[in-house]
Amino acid sequence: MFINFRRIRKCQCMQLLTTGLLLCVVMVCWEELDHHVVSHMRSYTYRYLVDNYDFLNSSYALSSSRRNRKEGYYDADGGLGNYPYLMNHPGKCGGGGRDGQSRDDVLLLLFVKSSPENFERRQAIRETWGNESFVWSELGASVRLVFALGVHPNVGWRSRVQSALLQEDQAYGDLIQQNFLDTFHNLTSKLILQFHWGHKYCRQARFLMSADDDIFVHMPNLVEYLRQLLSSQSVAKDLWVGHVHRGAPPVRRKESKYHVPHDLYPWPAYPDYTAGAGYVVSGDVAAKIYQATLLLNSSMYIDDVFMGMCAKAMGVSPQEHVYFSGEGKTPYHPCIYNHMITSHGHATDVRSLWQAATDPTVSGNSGGFINNIYCTAVRVALLCLPYYQNTYSCMAAFT
Ligand SMILES: *[C@@H]1O[C@H](CO)[C@@H](O)[C@H](O)[C@H]1NC(C)=O
Ligand SMILES: *[C@@H]1O[C@H](CO)[C@@H](O)[C@H](O)[C@H]1NC(C)=O
Ligand SMILES: *[C@@H]1O[C@H](CO)[C@@H](O)[C@H](O)[C@H]1NC(C)=O
Ligand SMILES: *[C@@H]1O[C@H](CO)[C@@H](O)[C@H](O)[C@H]1NC(C)=O
Repeated sequence: MFINFRRIRKCQCMQLLTTGLLLCVVMVCWEELDHHVVSHMRSYTYRYLVDNYDFLNSSYALSSSRRNRKEGYYDADGGLGNYPYLMNHPGKCGGGGRDGQSRDDVLLLLFVKSSPENFERRQAIRETWGNESFVWSELGASVRLVFALGVHPNVGWRSRVQSALLQEDQAYGDLIQQNFLDTFHNLTSKLILQFHWGHKYCRQARFLMSADDDIFVHMPNLVEYLRQLLSSQSVAKDLWVGHVHRGAPPVRRKESKYHVPHDLYPWPAYPDYTAGAGYVVSGDVAAKIYQATLLLNSSMYIDDVFMGMCAKAMGVSPQEHVYFSGEGKTPYHPCIYNHMITSHGHATDVRSLWQAATDPTVSGNSGGFINNIYCTAVRVALLCLPYYQNTYSCMAAFT
């Protein structure tokens, strides 16, 4: 009897201790747990069960007086926040078709989001995948490359950087700069710049691409893909394609770069959006996004999320393409080069990758039964094994 009693107390003690320990662990790790598990559960529930983003039209709509251009909230260009152009090239797309001027037939308007100090990256892009004359002479496609910039955030450096930019622009004529600080939290202003510029000066472009300045674009593959879309008219409309994030929860940890406070976005999930590193929209979608930027409050400073909000409000959904990368860097292999469209994180190796990926032997080697089996096996090894870097999904191995 006495022993039994002691036993029970011992058990209870252990139980109490374990419970206490567990609680401690949960309390200590709560933020991590909340971030990695709970917030995702909440957001997926919201995205897949509720799927109601009506609040965009109510909570984020600008009041009609705000929308009224006559009150001067928008400048004459419809440019949000009155940021004037410091550098501009209205004729870049052939006059934009105003006043009976001739329009150039533009397949793709290519907007690269750059920062004033990234001279090197811009130069590498001009010499490789962004080379308009190469794309024209080798692929017969008409592409217009422009860089979207703000002004250098550091006052001390600004004038020096600005005069270097002017020289660069005189040499290449491809910088579009507005007078806002080029900072992470102003990326939405840069997004708005792109769609407003496209609407005003390059409305005839069949497609618009927005890209970071540290990505690699396999231009021959992209051009071929866009041409396929155009050849079946139905899919060249209503298109927004890239690496899609579905049901992503807002990041609430204050120390994160992507932190979004409750006041700014109280709901548990963002509308679907494509990774900002690189995505393509068709001309009609570009026009819709332009309209949405006039209707919606642009205080959401994460630009790709804001793009998702604009698209949702206009009834446009993003499409996944397995060879658009998000954050990831492509595995270097000819069997990938045959298919890849974008890859992220190429600040320094753009030139060597361009050489390797567009080498005639790569595309020359792509046919044949044996070769197909070999390449599928290589892609499975590169993309499907868990230890390897994760750029494209495993599904991409089988396309
Ligand atoms: C918002 O309004 C637009 C146009 O009025 C409509 O097409 C769209 O479906 C609405 N979006 C939502 C999420 O209600
Ligand atoms: C772009 O390509 C053309 C034709 O291939 C070449 O002549 C020119 O030097 C290239 N431009 C740059 C900036 O590399
Ligand atoms: C964005 O740019 C504007 C205009 O230059 C500036 O006033 C504002 O402080 C910038 N915002 C951020 C978060 O950098
Ligand atoms: C946009 O929303 C922010 C915060 O949600 C608010 O402070 C701001 O006044 C709004 N701007 C306009 C123009 O409605």
